[in-house]
Amino acid sequence: MKKTLTLLILSVILLSGCHTSPDHYVIGVSQCSEDIWRDKLNDELRMACYAHEDVDLIIASANDNSERQMQQINDFIEQKVDLLIISPNQLSNISAAIDRAAQNGIPVILFDRKSDSDNYTAFIGADNYEMGRAIGDYMATRLGGRGNIVEIQGLKGSSPAIERHSGFLSAISHYPDLHLLTTIESDWTEEGGRKAMETWLHATRPSQPIDLVFGQNDRMAVGARKALISSRRIIEGIFFTGIDGLPGQGGGLELVRDGILEVSYIYPTGGDQVIQLAMSILRGRAFEKINYLETALITRDNASVLLMQAKEISRQAHSLETIHQMAGRYASMYALQRTALLLLIAIISILTVFAIVLIRLNRSKALLNRQLERRNEEIEQQKIQLEQSQESERRLTDTLQQISRTQTPFISRLKTIVLDHVSDPDFNVVQLADEMAMSRVQLYRKVKVQTGLSAVEFIRNVRLEQARQLFEETDLNVSQVADRTGFPTLQYFIKCFREEFGYTPKDYIKKQQQSPKEEAATPSTDL
Ligand code: FRU
Repeated sequence: MKKTLTLLILSVILLSGCHTSPDHYVIGVSQCSEDIWRDKLNDELRMACYAHEDVDLIIASANDNSERQMQQINDFIEQKVDLLIISPNQLSNISAAIDRAAQNGIPVILFDRKSDSDNYTAFIGADNYEMGRAIGDYMATRLGGRGNIVEIQGLKGSSPAIERHSGFLSAISHYPDLHLLTTIESDWTEEGGRKAMETWLHATRPSQPIDLVFGQNDRMAVGARKALISSRRIIEGIFFTGIDGLPGQGGGLELVRDGILEVSYIYPTGGDQVIQLAMSILRGRAFEKINYLETALITRDNASVLLMQAKEISRQAHSLETIHQMAGRYASMYALQRTALLLLIAIISILTVFAIVLIRLNRSKALLNRQLERRNEEIEQQKIQLEQSQESERRLTDTLQQISRTQTPFISRLKTIVLDHVSDPDFNVVQLADEMAMSRVQLYRKVKVQTGLSAVEFIRNVRLEQARQLFEETDLNVSQVADRTGFPTLQYFIKCFREEFGYTPKDYIKKQQQSPKEEAATPSTDL
């Protein structure tokens, strides 16, 4: 039964564990900022993970604070994540944390922004230098090779800010009549862009016209434009350009389509490609160390088409999200049903075991009952036997008492004469009457009066009493005693003995042997 129970439990455990995957990965994502570009990227990362049920994604944001990002990376290292995806806030400030992750054997993917640590596993992002250069080139042509430019730069020390600036400079350096009036440091935010422009205008009160504001991203370009408007500057004729080209309301695609920005550049988020790279690293597949994502310039000519496509993609992403949520609901329903099923199997197993135990218990109970009944029957029989033997005992005692009561001189004489001839089977009433010098009729009457027995019965009783004494006092066997007490046949002796004493001679001997003390206590007779 123990085996059955173990088997059942094992099957339940096996059933419950059969779907678990051997490898499970935890990926930590350290984002430098929080904004719509990062939101889009985070959504893409999450969606890409839907295709990998063995991956858990933990996303943290440093809110443009390099120290906080260091701490976040250290926390991820403590949690022993399997892989880190980091977008470094600044080039150098978090290098120590990246080195530490590498020392702990955690692969690191840098995306979008770079670090000066060499201890990373792979980089994935757009070519920021190339984007700066392409915009510079495009706008130089657009301006006919002449004009004044203000550049609004992203967060100081962040790699895209450095690279976009270098690319842009290299492009406009080919045009001697293009002048970069200033590169104002900002922080990638619209508010930062607005403040940067405002401060510069206030500090320098530029007398030359501005022909181009090159925002290193769309949000800062929009902020700078707002600052120019609020400083009552005529903005007609000023080109504003940015980078990111996000779809959605207020995104770069709309801004270009609506003529607020002259051009923008798609700065791809590529979340799916980031996760693909991560999975290649985790699963030990081949991968490239440096991975550049494809980008494209957005102009008024292609903005509407790109926006349309972006909306289509976003709709599909939304459907995908709905399908995923439904799949999640079905999965939890399935898990619930599975748990219920396992529970049911467990209950049925336990009930089966109980039933087996119960059946076995009932069987043993029935067996015990039968044994008990048999035992009771035996006891009942022994009781009957005991009652029978008590009855015999009583009869024997009665006889003995009756004999002793009839102990008169006449009877004593009669007994003596019978005993003298006790071994003679032919000794009879005629001889006894002769020896008593009485007629047979007289003898009969006197014996009847004093003992209640006929003379024949008297002789037979004396013989039997003698036999009983011989059994008690000698080791003679039944036939020897029958012989010595004058019974012509053994059967007749046995019959008479049983009638008189309630026992067969054999049983009487047995009884004597069993309780000699008891017998000793029996009143002796002198018949
Ligand atoms: C988003 C962002 C983008 C910019 C990029 C540079 O956080 O500020 O607007 O292009 O980061 O890393």
